[in-house]
This record gives sequence, C-alpha cells and structure tokens, in this order.
Amino acid sequence: MEKIKVACLFGGCSSEYDVSLVSATSVINNIDRDKYDPILIGITREGNFYLYKGPIEEIEKNNWYKKEFCQKITFSVNREDHGFIVMETGEVVKIDIAFPILHGKNGEDGRLQGLFELANIPYVGCDMTSSAICMDKFLAHELVKNRGILVPQSYLFLKYDNKEEIKEKIKDLAYPIFVKPLKAGSSFGITKVTVKEMIDDAIDLAFSFDDKIIIEEGIDGFEVGCAVLGNNVLTIGEVDEIELQDGFFDYEEKYTLKTSKIVLPARIDEKERDRVRKTALEIYRILGCEGFARVDMFYTKDKKIVFNEVNTIPGCTSHSRYPSMLKEVGYEFKDVIDKWIRLGLNR
Ligand SMILES: Nc1ncnc2c1ncn2[C@@H]1O[C@H](COP(=O)(O)OP(=O)(O)O)[C@@H](O)[C@H]1O
Ligand SMILES: [Mg+2]
Repeated sequence: MEKIKVACLFGGCSSEYDVSLVSATSVINNIDRDKYDPILIGITREGNFYLYKGPIEEIEKNNWYKKEFCQKITFSVNREDHGFIVMETGEVVKIDIAFPILHGKNGEDGRLQGLFELANIPYVGCDMTSSAICMDKFLAHELVKNRGILVPQSYLFLKYDNKEEIKEKIKDLAYPIFVKPLKAGSSFGITKVTVKEMIDDAIDLAFSFDDKIIIEEGIDGFEVGCAVLGNNVLTIGEVDEIELQDGFFDYEEKYTLKTSKIVLPARIDEKERDRVRKTALEIYRILGCEGFARVDMFYTKDKKIVFNEVNTIPGCTSHSRYPSMLKEVGYEFKDVIDKWIRLGLNR
C-alpha cells in the first residue's frame, strides 16, 4: 500500500514561531513512518514557505533555513493540483493531507485552514471557522456564555478607544485584572494587573500585539485543562491542573516551569473532574472543534468551572500537556498523531 503523504508545516509568521519548531520536531519524530510519508514544509517568520529536505534536528535549532535544504514553494488553490508547486521548477507535488503544527497567528487562527479548504486539501485539526472563533478570546467567550457556561466578566476595546474612557469602563472589575490582546497565544502581550498604576502599560503592551484587546476580571482559582480528541465521537483525556506559585502562567513559566507545576490528574475528586470533562466536551462542541483541541478552564474555590480558552493547536511535544493527558487514559503519543491524521482524512 502506498504511504499517505502528510505535509507537516512548521515555523510560521507568528510570535509563536519558536514553539512551533519544538512541537513540529516532536510530531515529525513520532509519526508512523510505515503508514505516513511526512513532507516537511517550513514557514519563516516572514511568512515564506519552503520545502525542507534537511536533517530533522536542524528544525528545533532554528537552523533549518539553509539554501541547500530548502526550495521555495506555494500551495496551489487549484483543486486538481491538490498540493503545492515548487517555484523554481514548476513541479506540482501532490499531498494527501496537510498538518499545520503551528501556533498562534497565521497557523492556528483559521487563515491557513481556509487556504486548504479552498484548495480542497484535507487537513489535521479544527476547521477554518472554529479555529478563527477559538483564536478570538471575546467571541469564544460570548458563544460559550450563551449556552450557560460561566466566563470571566470582560470588556472589549478597540485601538482608537480613549484610554481614560477604557479605565472608566473597567472600574467595576475587581483586581487583579487581566489585560490581553484579543488574538495571541503563549501569554504574549498579557499582563496581570494588580495595582491601578500598571494599567496604562498593560493596555499599551496588549495593543502592540493586536488592534483589539480584552480586559477581564481575574478568576480566583486554578487553571484546569482537558485534551479532547475526535470529530463526532469524542475521547477525552485526564484533567490536569496548573499549580502557580504567584503571578500567572506567562511565557517563561509555560516553557520552563520554573516555579509552576503541571499536576496530573488535577487534585479534585473524580466527580468534580468528571464535571470538568463534561464542560470541556460541551465547549468543544459549542465552538465547533474537530480533530483535537485543548480546553482550558478555571476551577474556583467554590467549585465553579469558568471557561478560559480553547487552544486548537496546543503544544504538542511528547511531554506537553495535551499528549500527557491522553497518555493518562492509555493513548501513546504515536497513536494520538495517527488518530489526528485519520480524523483529518475522514472529516
Ligand atoms: N481571567 C483570568 N483569571 C485568572 N488568570 C488568568 C485569567 N486570564 C488569564 N489568566 C492567566 O494568564 C494565562 C494566559 O492567559 P490565556 O488567556 O490562557 O492566554 P494564552 O492564549 O496566551 O494562553 C493563563 O494561563 C492564566 O494563568
Ligand atoms: Mg492559555
């Protein structure tokens, strides 16, 4: 039987470029080579696409972009091509499925997914609309809230809003408050504001990442996550918990875990974990997710479950939260990757 050609995309024109290199390396190393033929496509920070034929180790080191390993390509939107074109030679390379292992803007936010929909190329993960909704922290909250699930109280602001009016509008929010770019990830541009004096800088920082920001009340509790897998029939991993010393789960903590810890399973009893899982499944469905996603929520002292966000392409090294949560219920990372690809093909 011929192997399935999987175009694995890494890097990306996004502030989470570096995170993608790590995720992608892990996926590429764990993909079942008996079934799949991975075709590696690197996207530079500037947004240029290259077919990469160098060593896998060079990806994570960010040394992948070398002339001898790379050929510039472009995906074809012509459905009969079903793949990409090597720019220099004009050769059309057909693929069976695209696998964006990209985080944040231009990879996880629906844009690339839209390109594959237009080209009629199957792809791994949530579709264009769902990806775009999940990337929009305000829109995702509005939809989830409409179905009776709790979300933090928040306000949406636009770049041309007057700063004094912004501060006036949020004055009923109790501190700490969180100021976030509307669309970002890895905690880029987010400030936990603990005193009034911090608010101006926090607003400026968030606007440097996006033209829209949200300011929301801090939820007094800890963050819990759920790995969800599936299109119609859903599998869910064990619930994990983020233990913070202080501050919040910022970029440094996420990738070094210097003072914070991921606790698996979360330290709440089985009945409560089940409530968390059910809420995660409901959120996954409300937001139209398919393939896979990690649903993040807060669990408060008075046992409320409050929605935070859905990551449609969560960190996916073998030791990342998503694979770990599924491992806890018996799925090896290799099998998870296999399932992701099959779900994309069978959508
Ligand atoms: N409303 C909130 N209450 C308490 N902590 C929050 C709140 N919003 C965000 N945080 C903290 O900030 C981190 C990053 O925020 P999040 O909205 O998840 O952004 P990102 O998409 O960058 O992960 C969370 O993991 C959590 O530690
Ligand atoms: Mg988050």
